[in-house]
Amino acid sequence: MPKYKQRDIDYIVDYHNLSPQGKRNLETSGIHPGIPGTVLDLGIDNDYVQHMHSIEQKYGNYFWLPLDVPKLEIDNIEEFLNFWDNESAPALRQVPDIGEPWSKEDHPLGQKSSWYVPSFRELTLYQVPGLINNSIWSTKLYQGKHKTVDKIIDYVFEYYPVNKRNPVFQIFIWESLQDVKLHKDHSAFWKCLTDFRTMLYDENKHSTLYVVDTEKKTQAYIDLPADTNTFGWSNGRVLHGSDFHNKRKLLLIVNAVQCPEKTEMLLGKSIEKYQNQLNYSV
Ligand SMILES: [Fe+2]
Repeated sequence: MPKYKQRDIDYIVDYHNLSPQGKRNLETSGIHPGIPGTVLDLGIDNDYVQHMHSIEQKYGNYFWLPLDVPKLEIDNIEEFLNFWDNESAPALRQVPDIGEPWSKEDHPLGQKSSWYVPSFRELTLYQVPGLINNSIWSTKLYQGKHKTVDKIIDYVFEYYPVNKRNPVFQIFIWESLQDVKLHKDHSAFWKCLTDFRTMLYDENKHSTLYVVDTEKKTQAYIDLPADTNTFGWSNGRVLHGSDFHNKRKLLLIVNAVQCPEKTEMLLGKSIEKYQNQLNYSV
């Protein structure tokens, strides 16, 4: 079971209870695509907001789910790991976020904080042209040509619930270098699945990535079926974290404003396919 403790949950910050300095720190750190009010700034209309609310009503009980899309396989993993080791870079904090709303100077962990010590390596495979990169973490954009990178980008545009009308900001990979404490991402806060990921490579025998619903005291590992490695969770509903056992895992992350029509269809068919294999009760 996840090794979370109450103090980990206490560590998660409620934005509304932040100190004025904490709020100021957060405000310098960019956008919240999921918070009504700011979504409109991204050119998303009220239909989008209404549709997301209706998905919350319909599918809000599913807080993580394998997705009914083909498994994304890397053809030559040894070659890709070699490419990854050469191209990826350690990621360090650039700005405060909702999980750690402290500046470099006022972070309680001082020089052991994420401003100084990388928790993961990163490589951005794609970012929308003209993106002003206000990422929380330092990023490195790959600008070369690589067959597997092309395959991954094509996969995202084909199978993730995104389309040209709603921007895909960034497609990137993370490799954890240590335990990741329970936290919420600085992304969407809808109470339905919004955070889609693909586990590209994992040396662990059992899943090390988990989600925790602190209200219902429910916890579950992202325990993937054999036929897909793509899944989602609700950043608005649950916290997530991961254990590190000195084994490598590469997680594909997509930062995008999802297409609600595609999301609704994808969740419907994924629930139908996997509803008897869920490791939590709905
Ligand atoms: Fe996260």
